[in-house]
Amino acid sequence: MPRDTKNATLIERIDHHEQLATFRIKYNDHEVPDFKPGQYATLGLEGPDLGDGKPPKLVRRMYSVASPATDREALAFYIVEVDEGALTPSLFKMNVGDTLFMAPRLGGHFTIDPVPEDHHVVLIGTGTGLAPYRSMYHTYKGTGRWKNFVLIEGCRVARDLAYADEFATLAASDPTLTYLPTVTREPEDSDWKGGRGRVHAFLEPGKFEELCGFTLEPSTCSVFLCGNPQMIDQCEADLHGRGFVTHSRKVPEGTLHFERYW
Ligand SMILES: Cc1cc2nc3c(=O)[nH]c(=O)nc-3n(C[C@H](O)[C@H](O)[C@H](O)COP(=O)(O)OP(=O)(O)OC[C@H]3O[C@@H](n4cnc5c(N)ncnc54)[C@H](O)[C@@H]3O)c2cc1C
Ligand SMILES: NC(=O)c1ccc[n+]([C@@H]2O[C@H](COP(=O)([O-])OP(=O)(O)OC[C@H]3O[C@@H](n4cnc5c(N)ncnc54)[C@H](OP(=O)(O)O)[C@@H]3O)[C@@H](O)[C@H]2O)c1
Repeated sequence: MPRDTKNATLIERIDHHEQLATFRIKYNDHEVPDFKPGQYATLGLEGPDLGDGKPPKLVRRMYSVASPATDREALAFYIVEVDEGALTPSLFKMNVGDTLFMAPRLGGHFTIDPVPEDHHVVLIGTGTGLAPYRSMYHTYKGTGRWKNFVLIEGCRVARDLAYADEFATLAASDPTLTYLPTVTREPEDSDWKGGRGRVHAFLEPGKFEELCGFTLEPSTCSVFLCGNPQMIDQCEADLHGRGFVTHSRKVPEGTLHFERYW
């Protein structure tokens, strides 16, 4: 049987700015399946009909779920429009009510399942790399799943930090949550009051301890890296130098986890 390439519907979109949006998408025939926060779904749209008698090609990409696993009605995705991208410019043209492909099963190993119960989780994301952390936080908050949840979010400019108000508000009432946003290209004279510079700056031992109240070390902390692959490579190299070991099937005791977006 041919695959149903229009098995899901966009039911809501929140435009944070013209190239950054949250899309809520539901399956047409069933509820959201079981998934673990940190996992991704594959979204797809048919490309143009080339008039060659062949069915149009389905352009597919993976997206981390940004909503909690408890929401069984729909999945939310936090997506940036990539200039000249094959899929995102078409996604950004969609209206509520339009249909698309959403793979029936979710996948991925970027979850907090392997994190020991008494660990601090330190989550570092660039751009839309915040998405899986939002799903993790909202799914597990208040359950005692972590000692502390430190979220370090790096973006180009302040308007790219679409969930900054949400996390700042949550951090004000949750003593286990530390939210550290930082920007790299925000004009010096703007009214931005948060951090500046790339995310690595927060990992510097003295600064990390001062801001978070504990030491960043592999026996007590699990670190997650998500988004820009160069950021991941640089942080991974830095953390390896400080004794962290990358988690894998062969090295399940490793406490460094990553999800490269490209
Ligand atoms: C497991 C996984 C989860 C992902 N989750 C998300 C998510 O939650 N939100 C999201 O916006 N993207 C996410 N991505 C990236 C996404 O799959 C696409 O690669 C992205 O949307 C670009 O698709 P495109 O077809 O428009 O661009 P393409 O034509 O595929 O162009 C790709 C190029 O765009 C750049 N690029 C790709 N993704 C990004 C990005 N997110 N930010 C900056 N530059 C990028 C890179 O230079 C890359 O080479 C994820 C990727 C993976 C592997
Ligand atoms: N963000 C926007 O306003 C905007 C506007 C137009 C188009 N776009 C499109 O969106 C795409 C994605 O842009 P994005 O801003 O979401 O993602 P991004 O380019 O990955 O930048 C996100 C953050 O990651 C930082 N970063 C980059 N390399 C790093 C490294 N090696 N180590 C640590 N941090 C690093 C960036 O800092 P630096 O600033 O120092 O690089 C920035 O603060 C672009 O390719 C473009 O097509 C975005």
